[in-house]
Amino acid sequence: MSARSTHSCTARAHSNIALIKYWGKRDDRLKLPAVGSISITLDALYSDTRVSFFPGAAQDSVDIGGRKTDPAPFTAFLDLVRARAGIDYRARVESWNNFPTGAGLASSASGFAALALAATRAAGLDLDARELSILARQGSGSAARSLFGGFVEMHRGTRDDGSDAFAEPMLDAAEWPLDIVVAITDRAPKTVNSSTGMSGLADRSDYYNAWVSHADGDLDAMRESIAARDFETVGALAEMSCLKLHGLMMSTRPGLIYWNPATVAAMQAVRALRSDGVPVYFTIDAGPQVKAICPPEHTATVEQALAGVPGVLDTRRSALGPAAYVLD
Ligand code: DP6
Repeated sequence: MSARSTHSCTARAHSNIALIKYWGKRDDRLKLPAVGSISITLDALYSDTRVSFFPGAAQDSVDIGGRKTDPAPFTAFLDLVRARAGIDYRARVESWNNFPTGAGLASSASGFAALALAATRAAGLDLDARELSILARQGSGSAARSLFGGFVEMHRGTRDDGSDAFAEPMLDAAEWPLDIVVAITDRAPKTVNSSTGMSGLADRSDYYNAWVSHADGDLDAMRESIAARDFETVGALAEMSCLKLHGLMMSTRPGLIYWNPATVAAMQAVRALRSDGVPVYFTIDAGPQVKAICPPEHTATVEQALAGVPGVLDTRRSALGPAAYVLD
């Protein structure tokens, strides 16, 4: 193998949004989720990450979107890759998102998925999909899902070592085409990131046990309705999982409110479209952006309606996207 192919690799991973949400950890260090989750991967939003290992470099360096970033969280992740590959070279990591970073558009999902793929290949490792997903999870829980395309399920797992907490593909994008319209209501990075928002949740929310105890039922129902291609049920379950998640966030001491007035107006616009007969449902992650899901023949109507909501700054549309892959 040439020096380049051994020590350097660029990978692309697409962002994902959960239909049945992950929130809360059963183990903080290994990022073991308290609940399973089901997501869809987005074609239009992705991260490209280049990793180069340099013999002799003194420390890791990380640039995101051309800006130097504190390498500490990435060094911890790269250490896992180095330990596995039996190398101790430091790395230069360069990553670009084609969308705002840290604003509730799942940049940690696509970023850590791309990093897991690029870093393992650059270190000379060729992990299978399950091992890669387990590794990506240790960067960010939702990153375990961004390695796969279409509809994806993340298993909560029960083992302490996390060997059964990985994601798996359910359906390819082409098997059930759906579109997502993202209504951007604020471009600023959020003030409370997901890890901080969900840390120690069992002690910080009185609703935690209810959240965990209903997760398996929600996952079963979502799996069944995806298999049946029942869009109304998928949408209704996704909207309810989102509202339950935000109820949980608001119930967490100190109360977490990710919404702004435009977020609420966009949610209401989605429901108004629905009462006019347009099949569309919303979901929202740890941020103020609203993601509307609909069959492709309704995307133009949904995008036009959301673009007209006061406070919506911009809209992005996306089809379902592919699995992560190596660019060079
Ligand atoms: C609301 O995966 O960003 O988007 O595992 O701490 O890195 P960490 O959190 P992260 O949380 C995602 C939370 C969510 C719901 C979801 O994607 O399932």
